[in-house]
Amino acid sequence: MSRGAMDPCSEVLLRQAERFSGRVLLAGLPADGLLGELPHAQGWSWHAGEQSQLQTRFPGRTHFGVEPPAGTFDAAVLFLPKSRELTDYLFAALASRVPHGQLYLVGEKRAGVERASKQLAAFGKTGKLDSARHCQLWHCPIDVAPATPDLLALAQRYELPLSDGPLQVVSLPGVFAHGRLDRGSALLLEHLDGLPSGHLLDFGCGAGVLGASLKRRYPDSRLTLLDVDAFAVASSRLTLAANGLEAEVCAGDGIDAAPSALAAIVSNPPFHQGVHTSYQATEQLLREAARHLDGGGELRLVANSFLKYPPLIEEHLGACRTLAEADGFRIYSAKRR
Ligand SMILES: C[S@@+](CC[C@H](N)C(=O)[O-])C[C@H]1O[C@@H](n2cnc3c(N)ncnc32)[C@H](O)[C@@H]1O
Repeated sequence: MSRGAMDPCSEVLLRQAERFSGRVLLAGLPADGLLGELPHAQGWSWHAGEQSQLQTRFPGRTHFGVEPPAGTFDAAVLFLPKSRELTDYLFAALASRVPHGQLYLVGEKRAGVERASKQLAAFGKTGKLDSARHCQLWHCPIDVAPATPDLLALAQRYELPLSDGPLQVVSLPGVFAHGRLDRGSALLLEHLDGLPSGHLLDFGCGAGVLGASLKRRYPDSRLTLLDVDAFAVASSRLTLAANGLEAEVCAGDGIDAAPSALAAIVSNPPFHQGVHTSYQATEQLLREAARHLDGGGELRLVANSFLKYPPLIEEHLGACRTLAEADGFRIYSAKRR
């Protein structure tokens, strides 16, 4: 991406570049050229796709994970994420790394940056510094850095009464359907019977509800859980552990990051990204599933009934059957020819 193709939030930061010329931590930064403009800045990403783009372009300058990189900084900037609970955790994590420094917030107005600035006020006196390109930049001086927050203490834990016994679910802030079961996932949980045996994949695993349930039903099958989000990956590990289950959990962007020779791909696939609706990862899944499945391997997914997935599935995989329909969701199944 050239400087001209900068994310609008990055552009707003660069209008005051002198504020960000020291050791600054950019949390949730977009995969654009911002690090190239701020030579002493370091990134922190929890999105595997953005991390890999940043890593290619600025090797060694972005840390990936659910906790900030070690050390302290002169300033930290939070690029507003979608979830309110995640915003609270990230502000606390960043504040703990900027003793006597500045904590900044940047985000789009329509994504709720004004509302998030009220969350920032928990750390000191806030002020709006700029408003441009449909974005706002806020700041808050940190006098005394708080202790590093305990992410595990912020996890939501609940028990699902499934037909084969209760399943413990642990979800971290920012993870899909945080602390509750999504209706689409609930429907898919009722239709996990009869999958081919072999290597199974839970694509877009979130808190790992589907994956953990799969491992319990198919204990002899190898299982991989994949998600683009580090908080989802960490949640899935916690959910598996809470149920005494073992599986491979990996961070990766899209079906390309998945293993091949799979017996089945099971998914409640993503349908929103930030404030922009995006079906890109799901369309890619439907187009590429065949390359990751063994002959006779099955793609089984839940989707909103209004989403026109069957033609794409039939074009790229094989005949698409509707196994169930309820509450505006459908369960689709297709086998590789
Ligand atoms: C609808 S949620 C389902 C979560 C979980 N399986 C459940 O049933 O609760 C979709 C998940 O896909 C993940 N996701 C979004 N884009 C992705 C991508 N490009 N590659 C892998 N996972 C992705 C999201 O982080 C989210 O956890």
